[in-house]
Amino acid sequence: MTWLATRVIENRHWTNELFSLRVEGASLRFQAGQFVRIALDIDAERVARAFSFVNPPQDPVLEFYGVIVPRGPLSPRLARLAAGDTLYVAPNPAGFLVLSELPQAETLWLLATGTGIAPFLSILRTDEPWRRFRRIVLVHAVRHAAELTYREVVEKTDAKYVTFVSREAHPGSLAGRIPAALRDGRLEAAAGVAVDARSHFMLCGNPEMLRDTTAALAERGLRKHRRRTPGHITVESFW
Ligand SMILES: Cc1cc2nc3c(=O)[nH]c(=O)nc-3n(C[C@H](O)[C@H](O)[C@H](O)COP(=O)(O)OP(=O)(O)OC[C@H]3O[C@@H](n4cnc5c(N)ncnc54)[C@H](O)[C@@H]3O)c2cc1C
Ligand SMILES: NC(=O)c1ccc[n+]([C@@H]2O[C@H](COP(=O)([O-])OP(=O)(O)OC[C@H]3O[C@@H](n4cnc5c(N)ncnc54)[C@H](OP(=O)(O)O)[C@@H]3O)[C@@H](O)[C@H]2O)c1
Repeated sequence: MTWLATRVIENRHWTNELFSLRVEGASLRFQAGQFVRIALDIDAERVARAFSFVNPPQDPVLEFYGVIVPRGPLSPRLARLAAGDTLYVAPNPAGFLVLSELPQAETLWLLATGTGIAPFLSILRTDEPWRRFRRIVLVHAVRHAAELTYREVVEKTDAKYVTFVSREAHPGSLAGRIPAALRDGRLEAAAGVAVDARSHFMLCGNPEMLRDTTAALAERGLRKHRRRTPGHITVESFW
């Protein structure tokens, strides 16, 4: 496999932990919602990790949204990149968190924790979801209000935008976690739309959120979507 050497244009720091890298110089074909491996050379070894595209496929500048995992091999180094530095990008995007894998539904729910919002930012900026679904709800759950990044991107779309802030009080955001708010009706009330078999859920981020949310949706009669047995839930775990 031949790695593509891209050049960092910008590394935006939203908080001490959250950063967005914009790079140019690689022309990649991918579907909104997919990821690609990105890499740096560390101690003479190329260290690679999967990152979802934030940019829609038609945008030639690639964008990745990351969090610094303390003591993580790659993410602290990605956060330190500056304009002009080199980032290696693999030539083969992949992943099934894409609209082409989904059955027809009326409402598309996009549920993310933390950096799990990345693939949904790409999907929301393509035409397909707006042609296919009557309503789209984007839910972003974070620990602290400062981590509600990309608000201005979401607000430029017609998505209903619902936020959760779990570790401090934040007016305008729901408190607690997504599965609890599904069970007690707060999520549907905030979104202004019912959860039923005409819904399709895409979940991305923390694997425990994926598991607990899938369980809460199962209580409502919704199940995982598979090619052979169509359902209502599609997931992508970040770890
Ligand atoms: C399909 C896929 C897509 C991904 N897309 C993204 C993305 O768009 N943005 C992104 O930041 N990461 C994404 N990741 C995670 C990413 O690949 C790395 O794991 C992450 O950047 C940390 O790398 P690391 O080498 O520092 O630590 P690692 O050794 O890779 O991870 C150590 C631990 O950090 C935690 N962790 C990893 N990623 C995250 C995260 N995103 N948020 C919170 N905790 C985390 C987990 O507990 C993990 O076990 C994705 C992973 C997969 C499998
Ligand atoms: N942000 C920080 O202050 C901080 C501090 C230390 C380390 N870190 C590093 O940053 C990473 C965490 O990043 P993050 O804050 O983006 O991700 P996160 O831990 O996945 O938290 C994001 C959101 O997901 C929620 N969540 C967690 N488990 C859930 C579940 N089972 N069901 C539903 N929702 C769930 C969290 O709620 P809860 O708040 O209720 O868990 C929070 O609202 C870790 O790798 C860690 O190393 C961050």
